[in-house]
This record gives sequence, structure tokens and C-alpha cells, in this order.
Amino acid sequence: MNRKLNVIALCLLLCATSVCFANPRPGKRVSFNQDWRFQLGDVTNGQDTGLDDSQWRRLDLPHDWSIEGEFSEKAPAGTGGGALPGGVGWYRKSFTIPATAKGKQIFIEFDGVYRNSEVWINGHYLGKRPYGYISFQYDLTPHLIYGSNRNVIAVKVDNSQQPNSRWYSGSGIYRNVWLTTLDPVHVEHWGTYWTTPEVNTQSATVIINTKVKSAAPVNLTTIIQDASGREVARSIEKGAPAEVSQTLKVSSPVLWSDERPYLYKIVSQLEQGGRIVDRYETPLGIRTFRFDINKGFFLNDKPVKIRGVCDHHDLGSLGAAVNTRAIERQLEMLKEMGVNAIRTSHNPPAPELLELADRMGFIVMDEAFDVWKIQKTKFDYHLDWDEWHKRDLEDMVLRDRNHPSIFIWSIGNEVMEQWNENPEGGRISRELVAIVRSLDKTRPITSACNGVDVKNKVITEGDLDIVGTNYRHEKIPEMQKMFPGRLIIGTETTSALASRSSYNMPSDEIRRWPRKWDEVLKEGNPDFTCSAYDNNSAPWGSTHEETWKIVKKHDFFSGMFIWTGWDYIGEPTPYPWPAVSSYFGIIDLAGFPKDVFYMYQSEWTNKPVLHLFPHWNWKPGEKVDVVTYFNADEVELFLNGRSQGTKRKKGDDVQVFWRLPFEPGVLKAVSRKNGQVVLTSEVRTAEAPAKIVLIPDRQTIKADGVDLSFVTVKVVDRNGTVVPSADNLIKFELTGDGSIAGVDNGYQASHESFKGKQRKAFRGMALAIIQAKQKPGRIVLKASSDNLAPASIVINTR
Ligand code: GAL
Repeated sequence: MNRKLNVIALCLLLCATSVCFANPRPGKRVSFNQDWRFQLGDVTNGQDTGLDDSQWRRLDLPHDWSIEGEFSEKAPAGTGGGALPGGVGWYRKSFTIPATAKGKQIFIEFDGVYRNSEVWINGHYLGKRPYGYISFQYDLTPHLIYGSNRNVIAVKVDNSQQPNSRWYSGSGIYRNVWLTTLDPVHVEHWGTYWTTPEVNTQSATVIINTKVKSAAPVNLTTIIQDASGREVARSIEKGAPAEVSQTLKVSSPVLWSDERPYLYKIVSQLEQGGRIVDRYETPLGIRTFRFDINKGFFLNDKPVKIRGVCDHHDLGSLGAAVNTRAIERQLEMLKEMGVNAIRTSHNPPAPELLELADRMGFIVMDEAFDVWKIQKTKFDYHLDWDEWHKRDLEDMVLRDRNHPSIFIWSIGNEVMEQWNENPEGGRISRELVAIVRSLDKTRPITSACNGVDVKNKVITEGDLDIVGTNYRHEKIPEMQKMFPGRLIIGTETTSALASRSSYNMPSDEIRRWPRKWDEVLKEGNPDFTCSAYDNNSAPWGSTHEETWKIVKKHDFFSGMFIWTGWDYIGEPTPYPWPAVSSYFGIIDLAGFPKDVFYMYQSEWTNKPVLHLFPHWNWKPGEKVDVVTYFNADEVELFLNGRSQGTKRKKGDDVQVFWRLPFEPGVLKAVSRKNGQVVLTSEVRTAEAPAKIVLIPDRQTIKADGVDLSFVTVKVVDRNGTVVPSADNLIKFELTGDGSIAGVDNGYQASHESFKGKQRKAFRGMALAIIQAKQKPGRIVLKASSDNLAPASIVINTR
């Protein structure tokens, strides 16, 4: 292939990869993820250019070494951190820079490294960045070697001091890395900022500020393109100064919303001496929003209840290692459920999450910190607070403020300064609010407080725009009186507990586990599960039903962020070891919805919903509660063809249930609207496990080395019914152009390796995640287990 063809092939490859769309400078900012060397453990002078790293492990980033480790009761991170190892790790990469790049400026950009990263180029120290969730870049230019000699970049990551987090953090260069090659004249890093001070149906005013790096006069052309790439506005500034403000008009703007996330693009072009020297792209979403003290949140002048979830950053068995498709899958399922908002608890997220939120239509609360000056765990961010909080907060806002999806900044979560009338709560909050406002005045600022109280100085003296309340759902009706004249949002709610397909009866008896927040659990199930009837919650929280019924009633309460959308690794409340992952999710760690998913779907979407549960394998004669979530007028239940009566929801009911003596057979629900059948749903008694069924979420994936197919594994009886008690060990065998990136089953007390080639089923289900190689081809996945008929599927990569 000649050089030109090579370049075209490279561009096609880059644009085929899922990481490509994150790129503000296609062509000039390229992925720097490939072909690193890694060594777990400390290395003396690991930065030395002469060091022989040929025996180090070869890998591509993003990488999380903790997820590869073994669960241990003795892990210093504790079960809170997922009982997985931390430690120190070194990464090195050698690379050449062509002689033609002399005179250019070359930067390396890290989207996030957990934590305490230190970076060297050719032995020169570039700096340290303690915070594991912040993005940063270094200028490599002064230290580079050009031509055929190699440069060495070395990164030391130190996550050895534990515990430093209340949840699983992961360890390593777990987000994407970029190399950017620019002319000395360029738009600065995070150098654009748009606002839309006037928006109506006829036109939108878009003000774009651009920071330009140039010693000599340069011309800046700023273009707005619509979603089809058509130019809709242009402004030219000749002889641009270092900071340029341009005002453009978009006529008949198409507005961005959660329902229709329409995106424009801003293209900033710098031209000098008749040559375009830089081109920088920024996403633009035109929308208006406001909060009203009585009526809540309005998007484009329409009242919208914020139906949000909090999520941590891990991606289940992939660990913290960023994968765009895995994040997209999480968001797709939340969208299916009717979620319209995400809180990035409790840290700045991967940029890919925000880009997906822009594109898919989620309202985002972008959160900076879980701690300020006072610690929650021994080695957490409080140690870095004094030196770093200003810089980290500024960088979060500078990086993220062009995302149309972001509507609220949160400066903290349940910080310890909120207690005991501590005046520091007010003082630090004011300082942080001022930092955010100095960079963005278009979004309100909150801080998530579980001290929902007039004694809480973060709320009363912190200069917040919105009071952010965590839990205390019973106080919601009084909150307007408690905080007169203030805007209020449920920054965190619920903390209900459930394991998929696990049930404690009666379904209408609520268990708070443990009974008090500071108590050890005395009850509990011997298999470390929690009940999925929505009758189990943490004592500081409430069930989904309890919470939503109150939130729904009060318009002033602009919405809520449920703890959590997805299960995450670590924080296995209410159980100690051997439990290692959370029970809070509406969707389990493997990505299988728990029953309550459908309660929200029936309340939050217009799709017809009828969900019937539990499974139908019980002891003969045992009284079983049969529940339906639905959104038609009524549901009739049949057991083995005999009607058990028709029920309607009354008042604020969100479900109906029957209590029936079990007999094996078929349970069938029929929902009707205006007398017409809308949906039917059946649950059958399963016989003995007979075979394996494999169901990929996508049969064709991109051959980019990154893309994934999520394969659901079901253990079924000879009739195809999932066997709820099945825990067969499933062994996977993969051949062809891919690999197994992770396995899971959603069971919170499993200690099987996420990176293994086998997994026990939990409640009849498991998951295998298949990853493409950078080569088009064919992958065959086989699954087998003793005494079960095996299964196999083909996944194509293109
Ligand atoms: C909250 C906290 C979350 C999580 C949750 C568990 O108080 O903000 O990070 O710990 O409790 O219920």
C-alpha cells in the first residue's frame, strides 16, 4: 500500500472505532492506547530510557489491573472497595515521531488515571496528578526526539495506599490516552466555550469564546453546522487576539432535549498565511432550561420530571477500563427503563459518557468530589485537598462545560463538613461555588447533602443554587417549608436492595437491612441475597415504591437520582464479606434487569408494559405472592387456566399482587385497556436443567479491537424455560478473531474471576463479553457444562 492509501486506511480505521467520536481534532488528535508495556509492582527508576522492558506484559489501554486480581477478605481496599487488590504499577510505551513533526507542538492527554500518576518523557519528569478521575495533559515538545530514534513515555500509577475510596475504583490508566500534534498556532486545550443566552423558535443567539495560541495575527473562522453537516452560521475574526468572543445566530433552531437530542457542531478554524493551521470541533446543543421553586424543572419551557439514576464508573466484569460500547449499553438499558438523567457519582466521568449523554438525550449532573477536607476513608482525596481541589474543579468545568447534556454541577457528595453546624461547610462550599461560577454561569450548582437540615451550613451558607437532598424521603412534603424560597432536587434517593430473581415473602413486608445505619446485619439470607420484591432497603433509604410515590406527588421536587441504576463493584450493603458488589442497582452487575426495572418502565414510559413475577418454582402448597407491574387499566391472572381474579391499581398504587398457593404449571397475566387485551405474559414451572442457550446482543460488531458483543447465557429445561435454581458451571471456548473480555452472573457474593473463561450461572443466567480484534473475521463462542446440551454462536466482526 502506498503512503496515501495508508493514511486513508488509518482514518477509516480510526473513524470506525468507537473511541473516534470523542475527538475534537480528527487527524491531529490520535488514540495513543496501543502497544504499551506494563509491570505490576514498583520498579526502581522505571522512567529510565535505557531500562529493558522487553519482558514486561504487552497490552493496549485502557487497562485496569485490579479487575484481574483475586478477591480477598484481606484486601486493604475492604469489601467497600470490592475486596480486589490495589498496588503500584508501571506503564511504558516507546514510539517515534517523524522528522516532519519538528516545529509542531505535541501533547499527551490522559482522560483519567487511578491514581497518583507520575509521567516522564525520555527521563524528564512531566508531573504528578493525584486525583484518579480528572483529565490532564502534558506538553511533550521540548523533550522529544525526532526521526527514527525512539521516545519513551513512562507512567507510574500508585494506588497502594488503601482504603482510599468507598467503592471500587480500579487501578491504572483506565481511560483513553491521546496524542495531539499541533501547529504552534492553535486553539488551546479545552479552548472553546459556548453559551446560548437567547433562544426562541425563530432564532438562537450562540456566543462562542475561543482561546487562541499564537504569537502573530491569525484569522479565526467559526462555523456552526447542523446535524447533517450543513453550515447554518459563520463568523470571521481577522487578526484574532488571544481570546475571541463571537456572536452567531441560528435561525429556526432545532432544540436539544432528552426526547430529541439534536446536536449542532461548532467548527473553529484558524488560518494564517493562507493556510488552515487548526480546526477544532465542539458539540453544540441549543436548549433552555430553568428550575421553578413550585413547579420544578422545565426543559425548553416544558415541565420535565428529572427521572435520574446515580451510577459509579465501573463496567462490571470489565472493571474500570473504559469501553464506549459498554457505557452505551448501560445507557441504552436505562433509556429503555424511562430514565432521563444521570448523576456521575461521585466524580468527573469518562468523556465518552458525556458524549453518549449528549447524543442519546440524558440530563447530567456532573459531580466533582466525594470528600473535601475531612476524610471518609484513611487515604482518600482529603490528603490532596489543599493542593489540588481548585485545579481539579476548574479542570472538570473547563473540560465538560460544552456538553449540552450537563444541567447541574455538583461540588460534593455527603461531605463531612455538612455535620455539627461546621462553618467550614459554608466556607468551602462558597469557595467551590465561586470557582465553578467563574467558569460557567449557565448551570445551577448543588451539593448532595444527607444532612437535610437547616443546621447544615453547606445548605444554609454555601451559596448553592439548588438544595440537593439525599434520602429522607419522608421529609419531602415539608421541604418547601424547611427551605423557603429555595429550589430543591433529590440528588440521591432510595438505596433499595435486591438480587435478581431472589424473593423473600411476604412481598408487602419491608425489610430494612441492617435495622440501623450503624448496626451489623442480624437478619439476612444464608446465600447473601436480598429480595427483589422491592421490599428490602437500607435503613437510611426506602424502597423504590415508597420513594417514587412521594417524589411523583410533589412538583416542586424537581426530580430524583436513584441510588443506583446499575449494580457496581464494592459497597455490598447490607452484607459483609463474602459479598463484594452492590445490591442497590435496578440492573444487576451483568446487565440483567431486576424486577423493579419494569415498575419504572410502567411509570416512566408510554410503552405498554406487563411484567409478571416471581418465577414459578416453589414448594407445593406454599403461599406465593404474584406481582405485576403494568400500565393498562387492569390485569387478570390465571393459574393453569383458572382465573385468579382481575385487579386494578387504586390511588397511587404502582403494582397489584395476588397471594396464591403454589401448584406447578403456568401462570399467565393478561392486561387490558378499555376492555381490549394489551399484553399477555407467562411464567412456567421449570423442569430439570437440560441445555444452554446463548443470546448475543449484537451478532456483528466492529473489527476495531474495542467493540463488544454481550452474550446472555441461559440454562433452560427441555421446553426452553429458564431454570431459576440453575447454578451450573458454564465453560466458554472461543475461537477466531476475538477474545473473552469478561464473564459475570450478577451474583453479589461470587468470587469467580471476572476475567475467567468460565462462570457459574446465577438463577439460571450468566454473561460472556466478547471483544473484537482489529481484523475483520468470525468469532465462534461455545458454551458447555456437565449434563447440559452445549450451545455455540457465531459473531462476525467487520
Ligand atoms: C449514600 C452515598 C452513596 C452510597 C449510598 C449507599 O449515602 O452517597 O455513595 O454510599 O449511600 O446507600
